[in-house]
Amino acid sequence: MSENTLTPPRELPRHLAIIMDGNGRWAASRDRPRHAGHRAGVKIARDVVEAAADAGIEVLTLFAFSSENWQRPPEEVNSLMRLFVEVLQREVDALHENGIQLRFIGDRTHLPTILQKRMSDAEARTAGNQRMILVIAIAYGGRWDVLQSMQRLATKIRDGDLDPESLDESVLDRHLALAGLPDPDLLIRTGGEFRVSNFLLWNLAYTEIFFTPTLWPDFSRQDLGAALEFFAGRGRRFGLTGAQLEVIAD
Ligand code: IPE
Ligand code: IPE
Ligand code: MG
Repeated sequence: MSENTLTPPRELPRHLAIIMDGNGRWAASRDRPRHAGHRAGVKIARDVVEAAADAGIEVLTLFAFSSENWQRPPEEVNSLMRLFVEVLQREVDALHENGIQLRFIGDRTHLPTILQKRMSDAEARTAGNQRMILVIAIAYGGRWDVLQSMQRLATKIRDGDLDPESLDESVLDRHLALAGLPDPDLLIRTGGEFRVSNFLLWNLAYTEIFFTPTLWPDFSRQDLGAALEFFAGRGRRFGLTGAQLEVIAD
């Protein structure tokens, strides 16, 4: 990313989510192994975290590894797991010093034990930080999320701790992985695909979506600025008419 400072536009998303796609193609275009693309992607992710915190974003959620990514060749999965362990080892001090609170969402059960430990240590260490919440989605799938929420709700109902009549959207919402955080206002997907790939299915109901062909390792501060400008220009209606919104605004 370039060193240019980002001028935050008028309307800033409170919660920005990013599907960081295109690492493999970036590496292939340079005749390098896919792993080189993932390493280059980590560098950009670090810059984007800084830029987002500087811009005043409250929550940044990064999709690092999906439930479906387990089906990639074992060498790639293993090298990604090693990379996550290494990056946490290297970056948590700086994130902590910069006031970033780290949280992880996803099904941790199949992650290497050392990675699970690094994740929970990082969460405990940074829990009191207030400048920005950085959520990293690892082994995350939107369908998994809705299902784990339903399982916990079903258990509560079975045990008599929840009245099925009181089950509504807000109760379900509070059992999802992003419980307590606002829904993403803006989703960026790099890498040129126009799909959600099982990311935050429930939480994206009214999210504005910015698709860019830029491959993740080429993503720049200018691209982030362009996405924030795009967001600032959206008229969010949440199902209402434009005229109704004008009345509310007055
Ligand atoms: C995104 O880049 C990172 C992960 C899914 C882990 P890809 O690895 O999907 O890169 P492409 O889409 O093959 O270029
Ligand atoms: C989405 O990218 C997941 C992450 C960025 C972690 P994929 O590369 O897995 O998505 P598809 O397979 O192109 O839909
Ligand atoms: Mg991909």
